[in-house]
Amino acid sequence: MALIEQIEKENLPKHIAITMDGNGRWAEKKGKFRVFGHQNGVKAVRGTVETAAEIGIKYLTLYAFSTENWNRSEREVNALMSLLISTINKETKTLMKNDIRLLAIGNLQQLPKKCLKELEEAIEKTKNNKRMTLILALSYSGRWEIVNAVNKILKEKNSKKELTEETFQQYLNTKSVPDPELLIRTSGEKRISNFLLWQIAYCELYFTDTLWPDFRKEDLINAIIDYQKRERRFGKS
Ligand code: FPP
Repeated sequence: MALIEQIEKENLPKHIAITMDGNGRWAEKKGKFRVFGHQNGVKAVRGTVETAAEIGIKYLTLYAFSTENWNRSEREVNALMSLLISTINKETKTLMKNDIRLLAIGNLQQLPKKCLKELEEAIEKTKNNKRMTLILALSYSGRWEIVNAVNKILKEKNSKKELTEETFQQYLNTKSVPDPELLIRTSGEKRISNFLLWQIAYCELYFTDTLWPDFRKEDLINAIIDYQKRERRFGKS
């Protein structure tokens, strides 16, 4: 039986989040600059988005640039921003063709103007697409998102009303998105690294040694099959 046929269609995670790690190590292993790893990482992004949509995943969140990533060398940050601009620009057509809606989460005002403009245009163009939602986490960190939510609440006049988990959720960047059921991290690192801290409360974690530029269709399918073998109890017995 082909690997993809082993996926139970009725038990798909609705939302998959991915920490795309290992671009730098992938490049260094080949004796190349880190940027070469990011360029090849984009190819893995393209393949993963296509496969996720084909399988029937409704939401896919990719950790593309963390708040901490601003501390990398100027050369690497600039290269990543240029790559983002050119990828969003080039791929908007593909998103339209595949009926994929683009969203972004994070402190987007920190992005270079050109990057923000490309992003906003792509979000606007794809806003009515229905097959899958692709969410890019950019200049994002979970703690930033939570503090940002609290600050928004503090600014509201009626902030004395008691909050519930549901109302707090409405102040997060992901308010219109269901929590992920599966978080994948590549490159063998077993950490959360400030990603979707609120949203992963009940999420299944999947770690693979594969470096992000080597992440292929089979790797995504294997992660989903592994997830489907788990018993999700949400704290019940
Ligand atoms: C982690 O590898 C990867 C990143 C910090 C950036 C991910 C960006 C891309 C795949 C390209 C742009 C993305 C889109 C959505 C267009 P690392 O550099 O931390 O690798 P290392 O841990 O081996 O050093």
